[in-house]
Amino acid sequence: MVIESKKSEFVVVANRLPVDRVTDEDGEATWRRSPGGLVTAIVPVMQRREGAWVGWVGSPDEELEPFEAEGMSLVPVSLSSRDVELYYEGFSNATLWPLYHDVIARPIYRRSLWEAYERVNQRFARAAAEAAAEGAVVWVQDYQLQLVPKMLRELRPDLRIGFFLHIPFPPMELFQQLPWRREILEGLLGADLVGFQSRDGASNFVRLSRRFCDLKTQGHEVMLDDRTVQADHFPISVDVNELVTLAGDESVQQRAVQIREELGNPASMLLGVDRLDYTKGIQQRLQAFTELFEDRRVKSGDAVFVQVATPSRERVEEYRILRDEIELQVGRANGMYAELGAPIINYLHTSYSRKELVALYLAADVMVVTPLRDGMNLVAKEYVASRADLRGALLLSEFAGAANELQRAYMINPYDIGGTKQRMYEAMHAGPVERARRMRSMRRRVLEHDVDLWAKEFLDALESGRSKPE
Ligand code: ADP
Ligand code: G6P
Repeated sequence: MVIESKKSEFVVVANRLPVDRVTDEDGEATWRRSPGGLVTAIVPVMQRREGAWVGWVGSPDEELEPFEAEGMSLVPVSLSSRDVELYYEGFSNATLWPLYHDVIARPIYRRSLWEAYERVNQRFARAAAEAAAEGAVVWVQDYQLQLVPKMLRELRPDLRIGFFLHIPFPPMELFQQLPWRREILEGLLGADLVGFQSRDGASNFVRLSRRFCDLKTQGHEVMLDDRTVQADHFPISVDVNELVTLAGDESVQQRAVQIREELGNPASMLLGVDRLDYTKGIQQRLQAFTELFEDRRVKSGDAVFVQVATPSRERVEEYRILRDEIELQVGRANGMYAELGAPIINYLHTSYSRKELVALYLAADVMVVTPLRDGMNLVAKEYVASRADLRGALLLSEFAGAANELQRAYMINPYDIGGTKQRMYEAMHAGPVERARRMRSMRRRVLEHDVDLWAKEFLDALESGRSKPE
């Protein structure tokens, strides 16, 4: 007897499942929350809607049946080692990631990578087509899967298909470099609604569709022969309830006090929390901080920097080089300016639980978020949501999508080390009234626009076929 697998009315398709399969020292396989902003944002949305999540388990050559974890139905897609190398490390993270982030690193254009990208996107499209019920809503996520909307529509024209890009969408001058630019645009145009983090991303997409696909456009719309595609911006956000609850938890607050004690109760604790990625401007912020010591404006005991850097994409060469450079930089800075038992930079190459992360946010006087380019940056919003006490300061790059909303941050241009250093110093020495004034205004924005509202606005627009109200 053939047993029909369960079909879902709501399906999320993302490169990664929200949990990674990890093997512990005893050879036991367990699940661990996977890194990055996409997972942080979609998990709470999925937990509140019954649906299925189609994605990769994070390690090669795993063939797994659908399973449940953290209150979600998960549908694994298998990738071979070669797929991981060519599609994930290759086209996704050595071609698209640098191209979409202002070519901070040089993108690699290689046909074998593109072919793997097409092949793997087809596999995700088939898995989504299998998982979706008649007329279901399917929400495809991010740059790794830009061909899925078109492929899925060919398989299942009955579905309502949305796509959201979590990273920036580049302007014509950069996107033009891509040898497969038309195919990517056509892939995205398979969706009914294409969402971006910023207004610029949405208008770049509309302009590029006109230029490279010869299509008519009007405002937010791209006209195809038989249907219209909406393109709009939906700035992503954080799970405010989770963060406010954790920040109000007494044990988390005690842990924050303990962290400061462990650091020797410095006058200022500065904090960076990132995936170890060259887009994040980690080197620039550490240089600015170190120069404050070099200039003798700050001395050991006055300030400590804690940099938490989650390991990321460690087999991609640029990431390996970056790690070496940062570790050299931290070693040099401490060698020059630390005192016995008191490093000026505490560097932790690891990932923390949400609880420990919030304790770090509460301990930090200055949160330092300095990407050279970032679609949004959830860390900035997490810090703001956590600081109900209004006592922290946020140093924020104008190249992060979050800068559009968090305008009362201490804004910096991370390419300008002198300016960054000055603003960092100001943020460290701001009085309580000034800090509270800035934080109150930023909190108002984040509390009103949380991740649930983001998902609701996107899905309402997708289901109604209309743009969201301005
Ligand atoms: P990206 O999506 O590029 O990784 P974001 O700042 O938008 O950047 O999102 C990163 C997410 O990963 C945030 O939710 C943040 O809390 C989480 N995160 C980053 N570094 C760590 C870490 N070391 N430990 C635990 N979570 C982390
Ligand atoms: C960013 C991307 C996500 C990605 C995450 C972690 O948030 O937008 O799509 O999942 O980084 O990167 P990884 O390569 O580990 O999935």
